Amino acid sequence: MSAQSSVATATPADASGSGRDKGSPVGTEAKSARPALTGTGAVHRLGLLREIPVGEARVYAVGDAQIAVFRLRGDTLRAVDAVCPHAGGPLADGQADAGVVICPLHAHVFSLATGESTSGAPPIGCYPVRLAVDGTIELTL
Ligand code: FES
Repeated sequence: MSAQSSVATATPADASGSGRDKGSPVGTEAKSARPALTGTGAVHRLGLLREIPVGEARVYAVGDAQIAVFRLRGDTLRAVDAVCPHAGGPLADGQADAGVVICPLHAHVFSLATGESTSGAPPIGCYPVRLAVDGTIELTL
């Protein structure tokens, strides 16, 4: 028997309301310090990589989850919870570099690789994300 996987589509979330693109990571799978959202292993096709400027993020609604996908230099992708666990800040609007994102509300810092906070906040979830050959961002959740 072969492993089953499903492919679902997701829509860009309208949660930010800021009207600007949000930057988020692209690319590699990451470990999370926090248990991931319901892991069914379904692959969700979120959108095209070219829709996210380098260094920014975009939020996608995947089922009941809001996932921020960051596109880093070298087209590395990172997918994390879009909502800050401290007080609900929009992490996709935070400043991000190769390793961390800083929440724009109260400046808690989160690793984009593990989800752990280096500033004392509860961790965020990190999710496997990759770029398909057709340029589509695929998230496993
Ligand atoms: S809401 Fe993110 S640090 Fe407070």
